[in-house]
Amino acid sequence: MGSEISGLETTMTNTNSSGETLAPAGQYANPHLAFGKRGLEVSLSTGTHYFNYYWLRDACPSTIDPITRERVFDISVLPSSPYPKAAHVENDTLIIDWRDEEHRTALSLPMLEAFVANDGRMPDPANLPRRPWLSDGYQHFVRLSQDEIEVSNSALQSFAHAVIEDGVAIVTDMDNSDDGLTRLAQSLGPITPTVDGYYFDVRLTINPTNLAYTASALELHTDLPNEEAAPGVQFLHCRANSVTGGRSLFVDGTAVAEVLRDERPEDFLLLTSHDIPFFRRHDGWDYRSHQRVIELDSAGHVSGLTISQHLQDYLDLPQILLDDYYPAFCRFISMLKEERFVTRFRLEAGECIVFDNHRVVHGREAFVADNGARHLRGCYVDRGALRSTYRTLVHDRS
Ligand SMILES: [Fe+2]
Repeated sequence: MGSEISGLETTMTNTNSSGETLAPAGQYANPHLAFGKRGLEVSLSTGTHYFNYYWLRDACPSTIDPITRERVFDISVLPSSPYPKAAHVENDTLIIDWRDEEHRTALSLPMLEAFVANDGRMPDPANLPRRPWLSDGYQHFVRLSQDEIEVSNSALQSFAHAVIEDGVAIVTDMDNSDDGLTRLAQSLGPITPTVDGYYFDVRLTINPTNLAYTASALELHTDLPNEEAAPGVQFLHCRANSVTGGRSLFVDGTAVAEVLRDERPEDFLLLTSHDIPFFRRHDGWDYRSHQRVIELDSAGHVSGLTISQHLQDYLDLPQILLDDYYPAFCRFISMLKEERFVTRFRLEAGECIVFDNHRVVHGREAFVADNGARHLRGCYVDRGALRSTYRTLVHDRS
C-alpha cells in the first residue's frame, strides 16, 4: 500500500452511485475517496491509502463461494480493466459500482484498515513473534499434560501457541501407548510421513539406518534436510529412559542465528545466501535436496535453520567460495554448541517434547548401551497444520 497515485480524475465524498449525499455513519464518516487511473485513494483513520482497482474487485466478498469458501471468480474474464462508475461509503462499508459490469462490491473499512495495518497482508493470529531462549530454556518450556490438552481447547491453544512462539513445548503424563502419541500429534494436525513411515522409534537397532538408532552421541542437527520439504513439527514421546547418559541437547537455532548476524555479519551473509546439499541413502533410497543453513523471510528476519552434518553431502558450492563459506559454517556450528545457548535435560518416560524442526536444533549425549532401556517414539506434523489449528482455535474462542 501507499503507492504513488497519478492522474487523479475525480474526488468523491460519501455519495452513492446516483450522486446522492449519504448520511455519515460509523467511525469512517465522510472519508475522502479519490479516483486514480488504476486505483482508489481511501482516507482511513490511519491516513490515506491506495488500493488498486483489480485488487478491490478481486477482494469483493461475492468472489468467495459461501459453501466451499473458495474463490469462484476469474478476474481475467472481465471485459476491461476494472474501473468504478461510482463509489461511496455507507455504514463503514466502501461500496463500488463498476463501470463495465453490473456488479457492486461492498468492502468493510475496518477490514481494509486491518489489511493496511498489517503491511498489506491479511492479519494472521498465528503470526506470533518468536520468543528466543538460551541455555536456561528448559526451565521455561511450557508444560501441559496430555489430559489437559485433550479436554480443553484453551490448553490445546496454549500448547499450539508455545510451539509457535517458543518453538517447543513439553507434554507430560502421556498415555504410554502408540495411540497416545498419535492422539497428541493429531491434535495439531495430520501426521506427515517420511521414508521411515508415519512414525519412527529411536532405540538401539541392529544394522541401523540412522545414527539416532545407536548409543553414540548425536550431534546437534535438524531432522531430515535430505527431504525436499524437511519435517515441520517434531514429536518425541519418551516411552522409556533408564539408561546412564543420553541427555537431550536443545538449542534455539534461530536465536543463535540472530546473534551471528550481530557478532559476525559476514558469516551471516554467507550462510543466508547459498544452498548446500543433503542426502540420505540406504538400500532402496537416494534422497537429495539443497537447503539454506539460515533462511530469511521476506522481511529479512531469520525464519528457519538447517543443520545436519550426518546427512550433509559434498558441498557443491564453487571451491573458491568454500574458502570463505567453510570457516563461516564451522564458526556457526561452534556457536550453536556454546554453553550460553545449549539447554540440557533428561527427557523422562511419560514426557513428549514437541518442537519446530526448522528452528530448534537438537542432539543427544551418548548413553551406555548395556544398562537400562531408552525408547523414544516420534512423528511429524506440518507447520502449516500447526498454524491452521491455532488460527481455528483463536477464531472459535473469540
Ligand atoms: Fe533428530
